[in-house]
Amino acid sequence: MKHTLIFLLIATFIYACGGSDSPEGTKSTEQTAAATPQADGKKIYKQYCVTCHGLYGDMGASGAFNLTTSELPLADRIVVITKGRGAMTPFENLLDADEIAAVAEYTLELKK
Ligand code: HEC
Repeated sequence: MKHTLIFLLIATFIYACGGSDSPEGTKSTEQTAAATPQADGKKIYKQYCVTCHGLYGDMGASGAFNLTTSELPLADRIVVITKGRGAMTPFENLLDADEIAAVAEYTLELKK
């Protein structure tokens, strides 16, 4: 009886561990998952950036740069987003470095 109990405990433990780190479905087929930041750039963009840049990056409110034609490299985008520039507000107090990197990468996808 004692053994069965211990076995059950171990089984439950293993089951619990296995179940927790597999967020089935939603995670897409991204092969680079390990290399990309954990933050969801698209979500952050929709939350913080659309007001000026628009959903597709080309709205240009408050003189915001058109992100669909921007040639700015990733590293410089990260600087602009972190520190702000001109009428663009800095995001260093709103987002952590991971989130800034993720949203900067997302802006590259807006390019046509
Ligand atoms: C308050 C309006 C506003 C918000 C909110 C805003 N931006 Fe901007 N953004 C601007 C303006 C204005 C510029 C142009 C700055 C300048 O004149 O130098 C700009 C420039 C940029 C640039 C540089 C483009 C280039 O080619 O030089 C990037 C990249 C950028 N924004 C990304 C973002 C991201 C990502 C977010 C959300 C985290 C964001 N912006 C939120 C107004 C905004």
